[in-house]
Amino acid sequence: KHNLQTAAAKLSGVSYEQSLLASTSLHPTLLDRIGGPSGFYTLSTLFYNRVFNDTANPWFLGIFATSTKEEAIDNQYRFLVQFFGGEELYNAKKGGKYGVRLVGRHANYQIQARAAERWVEHMNCAIDEHEALLGDKEGRDYLKLYFRFTAYYIVVAKDYMRDDQLSGGTQMDKGRVW
Ligand code: HEM
Repeated sequence: KHNLQTAAAKLSGVSYEQSLLASTSLHPTLLDRIGGPSGFYTLSTLFYNRVFNDTANPWFLGIFATSTKEEAIDNQYRFLVQFFGGEELYNAKKGGKYGVRLVGRHANYQIQARAAERWVEHMNCAIDEHEALLGDKEGRDYLKLYFRFTAYYIVVAKDYMRDDQLSGGTQMDKGRVW
């Protein structure tokens, strides 16, 4: 797990510790700064509007071909409220017995470094558009660091899972990695 964090840090330019500041070190919390749960709903809407309009990048948009925008917004919004210390809306929908399984839930998609980069570009734009964060550079910056690290973590953890399976080694603790 530590190796995955190191690999994600190398690719993203953000350390694991830096990525955690958004959820552990901001006062008031990011959940408050963004305007509570509905503020994250707005963020996820801004983000997925961009993703589903990204027809200039079919290779990226294609990753979302089996999803509807409404479901994707709802899933991400619930996850973010829960991650940033609000109600456990994500577990309420998906069940939380094995954790949120962020890596495992991305296992069926083609997600390499360039997809992470495009994802982060859309998210950074969504963050910059969010009215509640307009005057809050600190909040915006920390949130961007969290997403950047996490996006690349998903990329490297997916690779690791694949290698693990190919080498016939014991099945990695797929779900538990976040
Ligand atoms: C779901 C792609 C990074 C959180 C999804 C889905 C796709 C996707 C195609 C399915 C949409 C749905 O029906 O919900 C990607 C790509 C990424 C990426 C290409 C680039 C690395 C992230 C990051 C986070 C995240 C960084 C959180 C910080 C989620 C969540 C779901 C989701 C919570 C819902 C999963 C579920 O409950 O089924 N993602 N994602 N993703 N993604 Fe990502």
